Amino acid sequence: MQFDTKVGTDIDEAAFWLKKGEVVGIPTETVYGLAANGLHADAVAKIYDIKNRPSFNPLILHVANENALQDLVVNNKIAQVFMHAFMPGPLTLVLPRKAIVPDITTAGLDTVGVRIPNHELTQSLLQKLDFPLAAPSANPSGYVSPTKAEHVAENLSGKIPYVLDGGACIVGLESTIIGFENGQPVCYRHGGLAIEVLEKLIDQQIPLRIQADVLHSPGQMKSHYATNTPLFIIENEEDIKQWKGKHIGCIVYDQFMSEIPHENQMLLSPDSDLHTAAKNLFQAMREMDARGFEMILAQKVQNTGIGYAINDRLQRAQHHLKNV
Ligand code: TXA
Ligand code: MG
Repeated sequence: MQFDTKVGTDIDEAAFWLKKGEVVGIPTETVYGLAANGLHADAVAKIYDIKNRPSFNPLILHVANENALQDLVVNNKIAQVFMHAFMPGPLTLVLPRKAIVPDITTAGLDTVGVRIPNHELTQSLLQKLDFPLAAPSANPSGYVSPTKAEHVAENLSGKIPYVLDGGACIVGLESTIIGFENGQPVCYRHGGLAIEVLEKLIDQQIPLRIQADVLHSPGQMKSHYATNTPLFIIENEEDIKQWKGKHIGCIVYDQFMSEIPHENQMLLSPDSDLHTAAKNLFQAMREMDARGFEMILAQKVQNTGIGYAINDRLQRAQHHLKNV
């Protein structure tokens, strides 16, 4: 179906389309989501179609509060501790699903990811609905996730009726995903909530089970979160020298590189704060991608706190994963 995509702040209009089984862009504190009624198989199918998402990649269900969450999943003790401490917030918990959750939402898995987004507009929207919202990030599969309503409109114009505009996302990277093996927590994805913070709360280590990128066809590994311009990770000034003579755009942490003209660089965080860097990363990748550089070089950050998630996204965006 073709739509004349509107961008606005009208919760009633967003609710109207969602109740009709259509797909709407919604703001969260992490990234914008592409939302539909998560209990309605036909509505969920539209998300996969619009995003061009492989059908075996499951979706996260978004609800307003813990009560709504209990209807969808079977809880455990540690999950409960995390829920009380960090929801609403940039955390997704993967738990055994209840029968009400349709197969298409979980891609057939017997678990489902659930999350309570910490965003005023989307909270109000969820309170007007009597169903959870299934929502992946609102980018076409493989491209950089959106952190502003205009990013969603740019990428999906004509495909959805409405984008609820909640401003720039405060966190800027997707939620941290925690699942459970034999009742013990494991981390499926680094994200907006630092893993150390979760570990400290329960006083135990959380092993990593980071998911690889999706294999699309034999011999071809498609990157996630990738710019169209080839992107490479650098650590320091020295690493730039191998690309001398190329037209380079550079995404740096808190200091310009002396080898590259300043106007071709973007500082993620002049104040040397990893949270600011996370908030600005996807916007910077999109802006650099639009400027016609031969390549984008992106500087790795410290592996600490939300820095793990920043480096994870850079690695997934890195060019060598494409067309191997
Ligand atoms: O911050 C976020 O989590 C954003 C906002 C919109 O809430 N959503 C998001 O969704 O990042 P998406 O679909 O782009 O990423 C969800 C990830 C996928 O890698 C998916 O494979 C994984 O979560 N996932 C979902 N359900 C799962 C499950 N039952 N078991 C394991 N992984 C799951
Ligand atoms: Mg995504």
